[in-house]
Amino acid sequence: MGNGQAGGYSAPAKWLHWIIAICIFFLIPVGISLDKVPEGPLQDRLFNLHRSFGVLVLALAIVRVMVRRLYGPPAHYAGLTRFEQIASTAVHHSLYALILVTPLLGWAMMSTYRAEVPVFGLFNLPPILPQSDLLTKIFSKLHALSGILMALLVIAHAGGALMHFIIKRDGVLERMLPASWGPAFTRIQSLFGTPNRSA
Ligand code: HEM
Ligand code: HEM
Repeated sequence: MGNGQAGGYSAPAKWLHWIIAICIFFLIPVGISLDKVPEGPLQDRLFNLHRSFGVLVLALAIVRVMVRRLYGPPAHYAGLTRFEQIASTAVHHSLYALILVTPLLGWAMMSTYRAEVPVFGLFNLPPILPQSDLLTKIFSKLHALSGILMALLVIAHAGGALMHFIIKRDGVLERMLPASWGPAFTRIQSLFGTPNRSA
């Protein structure tokens, strides 16, 4: 699919990757804390922020899928084993699916609950489903499941990237970082031993 890029990801792909990643690092812990925070202004604020950033991730994820179709993913990093190629592709595809599906399930849950989905105080998203207590319960469970699955995959994914950086000391992590960081990146990496680039 697309015109694979030898050097790494396109600038828009990198920007979208890291902005979405920052949102996810905020959304998951806030999501898990929502029902543990006492009711009141703090809880209201966290609910609103969780919904707003969740909707932002949905919008950015749609742009990101279009960017990927336009630019294509780069070819696999040259030093990867067959297993690494299959495992990383499976995790990447699952993460793409989850950054689309998790916010949609949140939106569906709020729709069936007839709760508002305010987006940074600018506007509200309309409900996409009729009200139903049963569906609210189901979507709440599915949203939680999908959020937790994303957390586990992100741990595996970031763990893999850091393993490449620190143990294999190859250029995988660099593919997702700004091109101008190359020299600094290699210097930091050499603190762990001799960098070992195959591509
Ligand atoms: C990528 C986006 C999102 C992620 C990763 C995410 C993640 C999570 C997680 C991990 C939880 C805790 C679940 C639990 O332990 O019970 C949660 C709860 C919640 N999320 Fe999200 N969420 C996202 C988007 C949204 C959106 C767009 C909405 C609403 C429009 C939403 C509404 C809620 C609500 C109301 C709760 C608390 C109620 C419940 O636990 O069922 N989320 N979210
Ligand atoms: C937190 C949420 C994150 C999500 C949802 C996410 C998602 C993704 C996805 C979908 C791809 C595949 C891109 C494509 O082929 O089009 C990717 C690639 C990548 N991610 Fe993440 N990521 C996250 C966090 C991180 C973190 C924390 C790191 C580093 C520690 C990281 C490092 C990388 C690297 C190095 C690649 C490129 C791998 C390659 O060369 O093929 N990501 N990420």
